[in-house]
Amino acid sequence: MAEAIKIFAICGSLRKGSYNRMALKVAAENLPPGMTLDQYDRLAEIPPYNEDVRQQGFPPVIEDLRRRIKAADGLLFVTPEYNYSVPGVLKNAIDWASRPPDQPFAGKPVAMMGASMGGFGTGRAQYHLRQTCVFLDMIPLNKPEVMIPQAQNKFDAQGHLTDAATLKFIQDLMVALAAWTRRLKA
Ligand SMILES: Cc1cc2nc3c(=O)[nH]c(=O)nc-3n(C[C@H](O)[C@H](O)[C@H](O)COP(=O)(O)O)c2cc1C
Repeated sequence: MAEAIKIFAICGSLRKGSYNRMALKVAAENLPPGMTLDQYDRLAEIPPYNEDVRQQGFPPVIEDLRRRIKAADGLLFVTPEYNYSVPGVLKNAIDWASRPPDQPFAGKPVAMMGASMGGFGTGRAQYHLRQTCVFLDMIPLNKPEVMIPQAQNKFDAQGHLTDAATLKFIQDLMVALAAWTRRLKA
């Protein structure tokens, strides 16, 4: 039987009808054998980063975020693209979690994907996110790159994915993340 691996997933959109949240749901429904997925649900609670606050100790919501990152074998970021970059709420969460001591991202295998209404499917945001992963010593999976353009044409009104090629990309990403995580754990 495949060794169990725990993935912690963060979606960078707070929107109820988020395409990125829909894409994450597809990933959660298409896990390879032995993989579990913890979906982060507290992004909206995270305050704007303030070093003065941090000096007094991490707020409980950040302690919880850091604990969940630490407990995971690997990470999955599902990011929208805002103005060619990562949405502030996602970057803010990463910034909070990244502060010492024992920054929890170090050494974590990480995969990413994203959906946008534009033509490039969050490619520019993902390359910015990869830069952040490098500084925080994460170990990003290179391929497949899952960039879902024109997301409004790929999900129906109920939020179901209707595009077979996108489903295959997401399935392939999760299989690759499982293999990457097992390889780095070995
Ligand atoms: C502040 C802002 C900036 C955006 N910038 C981009 C962009 O640079 N590229 C792009 O393809 N879409 C951009 N969009 C459109 C998003 O792709 C679209 O809102 C998408 O639905 C966001 O993801 P979500 O559905 O998961 O919330 C932007 C949207 C917002 C609100």
